[in-house]
Amino acid sequence: MSEQQKVYPVTPELAESAWINKEQYAAMYKESIESPDTFWGEQGKRIDWIKPYTKVKNTSFDSHNVDIRWYEDGTLNASYNCLDRHLEKRGDQVAIIWEGDNPNEDKKITYRELYHEVCRFANGLKKLGVKKGEVVTLYMPMVPEAAIAMLACARIGAVHSVIFGGFSPDAIASRVVESSSRVVITSDEGYRGGKNVPLKENVDDGLNNPNVKTVEHVVVLKRTGGDVDWNADRDVWWHELIADCADECPIEEMNAEDPLFILFTSGSTGAPKGLKHTTGGYMVYASMTHQYIFDYKPGEVYWCTADVGWITGHTYIVYGPLANGGTTLMFEGVPSYPDYGRFGQVCDKHQVNIFYTAPTAVRALMAQGDDVMDSSSRSSIRLLASVGEPINPEAWEWYYRVMGNSKCPIIDTWWQTETGGILIAPLAGVTDLKPGCASIPFFGVQPALVDSEGRILEGETEGNLVILDAWPGQGRSIWGDHERFVQTYFTTYKGMYFTGDGCRRDADGLYWITGRVDDVINVSGHRMGTAEVESAMVAHPSVAEAAVVGYPHDIKGQGIYVYVTLNDDVEATDDLKKELIKWVRKEIGPIASPDLIQFSAGLPKTRSGKIMRRILRKIAANETDGLGDTSTLADPSVVDELIENRLAR
Ligand code: PRX
Repeated sequence: MSEQQKVYPVTPELAESAWINKEQYAAMYKESIESPDTFWGEQGKRIDWIKPYTKVKNTSFDSHNVDIRWYEDGTLNASYNCLDRHLEKRGDQVAIIWEGDNPNEDKKITYRELYHEVCRFANGLKKLGVKKGEVVTLYMPMVPEAAIAMLACARIGAVHSVIFGGFSPDAIASRVVESSSRVVITSDEGYRGGKNVPLKENVDDGLNNPNVKTVEHVVVLKRTGGDVDWNADRDVWWHELIADCADECPIEEMNAEDPLFILFTSGSTGAPKGLKHTTGGYMVYASMTHQYIFDYKPGEVYWCTADVGWITGHTYIVYGPLANGGTTLMFEGVPSYPDYGRFGQVCDKHQVNIFYTAPTAVRALMAQGDDVMDSSSRSSIRLLASVGEPINPEAWEWYYRVMGNSKCPIIDTWWQTETGGILIAPLAGVTDLKPGCASIPFFGVQPALVDSEGRILEGETEGNLVILDAWPGQGRSIWGDHERFVQTYFTTYKGMYFTGDGCRRDADGLYWITGRVDDVINVSGHRMGTAEVESAMVAHPSVAEAAVVGYPHDIKGQGIYVYVTLNDDVEATDDLKKELIKWVRKEIGPIASPDLIQFSAGLPKTRSGKIMRRILRKIAANETDGLGDTSTLADPSVVDELIENRLAR
């Protein structure tokens, strides 16, 4: 039997103990699709509302009028739902377990402590004049203060925009401009894998960009005590800001459709876009998916290894687990520091029950050999989950056998920044597991596969993955550009949300994500627009033209392969390659570093001047036999040169 056909049936224990079993799933799914108002009206009660909603679903995917509203006349506060409402029952329960980069550093924060910290910081933000509806930018290390700042924004109705700490000053600048932030929150430095990351310096450099005109205050958390430049008119230490702040702070009453946060993500064209997520539907969906998909039970320790700078960190480190009164573990470090056994050691140390990571991390550990986990027992883990990219069956099996001691279901969760929460995933008590298969839609989610004309394909088939109707956690718009939101997601296939992913449905009706079908690549679970990397490349004075494609990479899933045509008078040297890599790191950030750069005299173009990426992708993947029809190229001989000089790996 090939790996892909292996099936791990639901165990009788899980069928018995999990929140949802097969019969319940069938009945609930049916209701969620046939009577969404009843279903979501009921589920909405998992969140505390200030003014209860009387309307539930009011959504349209019509490309002339894309409008998505859930619970639109209800009011609530997200921070209240994550904190205040738990105080009476579980004020002394640990809300956040924080594990430092240094294994000797950790911290436990109870709900009551977290509540007071959030209130104090919210009062600090108020002192800076932060008002309901304004966007506050965060550029933070993985420390509890990142979550505290997010929840403090939510408390006073400010909209947070978290920028992943691996982005460059230029990326900070463009995002701050896009969101017109007045306040930026950062840290002197961060620790990652034993190294110091210059966060404040990056913010300073970013804000020096002449396009940034709005920033009045930079709040700086002291994390490492490292030296930083100080602008006394603008900068304020976190601890000084809150020194005289009260530890109670009233909540702002937010409409369900008021924005909770924006989060920038890459697409196939243009600059990264700030996805707008709103409050009511997002909270309901975050809470419900966290409970059912991870089968989270009260008292359990749950660890999602993502960074809060990504949507996974927003929904499944902060909002979902805290809305559910859970204990969420936040990890500052990396899987390989001090050694590759770290994930297992942290699981033992904090008795983690549920562990959620990315396939790239699994493959990095797998590459170290089975004994990499020998320093831990991981006996507390009962459920493993995966996100960010397709998990190949080999990595799945390793994750199951080594990380999970062959006793934990693996929940492969498919979703996107745009979707707010998980849309397709197996459920532990419902789905027989197939390695590499994202499996079944969550409640309310109607996936479909369409051909290039948008015709819905039935049965066992492969096509473009679309979602036919709205779910509460869905992003509502692109910040400041609703038309772009409509164009990007709702015009390719009219009346449907287009995910940008390809997908196969097997004979059992289960969904297998096959990867992006647009010009987006996925490098170590980080999503990147090839156009973004290209435009960074051509901004370099030596570069005439550049084309960027992904290629299969053993650890990262996809690597970045760049074809570069240099200006006439420029010599192609190894030093120039190094310089170009440095350049992209500066323009976008280390996550966009090209893996391979091939200099070439020309690129394959059609007579109308369009680059044929299909050919470049094949050459980068070393699949040079089946290049298909090249007769439409303006100069077919370019292809031979590209093949001849393709890079070894
Ligand atoms: O291609 C899919 C891939 O990641 C993309 C979304 O990236 P991002 O918005 O950064 O969010 C990542 C975390 C939710 C998707 O379009 N992707 C994510 N999860 C999976 C996946 N591909 C296959 N299987 C998954 N489980």
